[in-house]
Order: sequence, then C-alpha cells, then structure tokens
Amino acid sequence: MSLAGQRILVTGAGKGIGAAIVPRLQAEGAEVIGLARSAADLEALSAATGCRTLRCDLADSGRIEQAVAPIMPLDGLVNCAGMVVVEDALNVSVDQMNETLAVNTTAPLILAQQVARSLIARDCPGAIVNVSSIAAWVGTPGHAAYCASKAGLDAITRVLAVEWGSQGIRVNSVDPVVTRTPMAEQAWSDPEKAGRMKSRIPLGRFAEPEEIAGAVAFLMGPAASMIHGISLPVDGGFSAG
Ligand SMILES: NC(=O)c1ccc[n+]([C@@H]2O[C@H](COP(=O)([O-])OP(=O)(O)OC[C@H]3O[C@@H](n4cnc5c(N)ncnc54)[C@H](OP(=O)(O)O)[C@@H]3O)[C@@H](O)[C@H]2O)c1
Repeated sequence: MSLAGQRILVTGAGKGIGAAIVPRLQAEGAEVIGLARSAADLEALSAATGCRTLRCDLADSGRIEQAVAPIMPLDGLVNCAGMVVVEDALNVSVDQMNETLAVNTTAPLILAQQVARSLIARDCPGAIVNVSSIAAWVGTPGHAAYCASKAGLDAITRVLAVEWGSQGIRVNSVDPVVTRTPMAEQAWSDPEKAGRMKSRIPLGRFAEPEEIAGAVAFLMGPAASMIHGISLPVDGGFSAG
C-alpha cells in the first residue's frame, strides 16, 4: 500500500483513463477525490469506487481555485482531464486553441500551484503527475491545438520539477499513445486511420486505460522517489521507431 495516507485529486475521473486511475490509486491505499464535469459519470464513479467527487469545469480558469478549495489540503495531484478538437491546421480557430489550452495546459498548472502552495505551507513532500500525450512530441494531423497543449504541459512539468524539487514536490508526466477510451473513439474512429497508427506501434495495438493508470501509480509512489521532471512514454514502443 505505497500511497497509504495520501489524499490525491484525480481530474478527468469521470471516464476513460482517469476512471481507471482512481481505483488503481485506491488499491495503493490513497484517499482519492475524483473531479469531472458530468454529474452522471461522477455518480457512477462514486458508486463503483466509494471515492469523493467534485464537479468543476476546468475550461473556466478563473473559478478553479475556489471550486477546489473545499477539498484541500491534498498530498498529490493527477492532472488527467483533457479534451481534443480534431481540425485541420488551416481551419483551427482561435476559440478552439484557447479552450484546448485552457483545459489541457492552464488548468493543470493552476491545480498544481494550489496543491504545491498547500504542501509548501505544511512543509510536506508531494507528487504530481500530468497525463500528457505522445502528441507532445509528434506532429499528429488534425491535432494542432491538442499537440500544442500537450507540448506545453510537458514543458510545464519540467519547469515545476526544476522549481519545486527542493521542496520535495516531485512532478512528472506520462505520455500515452492512443488509449482505448471515449476520447480515442472520437479521434480514431476511422478504421483505416486507426490501422495506420497501430502499424507504427511495435506492440501492434492501442493501450488500455489500466496500463496508463499503472504508470501513473508508479510515478506517484515511493518506488519513483528519484524520478523527477520526466515525460514517460507509455506507447508500446511508438517512440522507439
Ligand atoms: N485516449 C487517448 O488516446 C489518449 C492518448 C494520450 C493522452 N490522452 C490523455 O489522457 C487524458 C484522459 O483522456 P481520456 O482518453 O480518458 O479522455 P475521455 O475519455 O474523453 O475523458 C476525459 C475526462 O476529462 C474530463 N474533462 C474534459 N474536459 C473537461 C473540463 N473542461 N472540465 C473538467 N473535466 C473535463 C471529462 O469529464 P466530463 O466528461 O465530465 O466532461 C472526462 O472525465 C487526457 O488528458 C488525454 O489528453 C489520451
């Protein structure tokens, strides 16, 4: 039970990868609070795992701190919520860019700041994992906003690691390849496109949410006590090719 006694906020907990991270961290002994927008998803999550839940729209940057205040203090944070718009670079709009950056890049920073301030004030160590993507370092057609947002998230991971390491706050990201979730169904529903992508993954398949959750649990826990500031590919060898 490597996370016993830890209170950890998991965003994007309503479905997909986040919904797999919640029970994985609980199995390690953590007290988990799951954040998402959909009330129905959060009810289902609470019924399945017993975790406390919090509704919050992370696109609304100015309201995040106040929404999260009632569940402080926290010992850890997993920034997993994310969104994708699929649009050609010729047509991607300023609104699409701004919303994607707000949810995928700015909100994780705001939450990390809030958790880090609380940890520093209590003189406690802590851990933060950002769920990024291989899209942070590979140009994916139709994903200009998404790739920019995840590259920014990996960059923020490194800055936080450099700034907060001396306070005992470890910060890392995991960078999954396509993972079988509702988001992937939206972006990879075309079988021909999906087949082309799978042919670039040496293990020959997409990831399962539980495989990403395992990497997150590892980085959150004491087995990763000297791992700091990395972006860990969980990609079936995609980045080796
Ligand atoms: N699936 C993949 O292929 C893949 C690959 C690499 C990286 N990732 C990353 O992994 C993370 C999880 O993705 P997923 O595939 O599990 O996605 P998903 O199935 O679409 O789930 C996304 C979660 O994020 C929440 N969310 C989205 N926008 C939000 C907002 N404005 N405010 C609050 N919560 C919001 C959703 O909550 P509601 O439904 O309640 O809005 C949902 O719980 C994302 O950061 C994604 O970029 C996914």
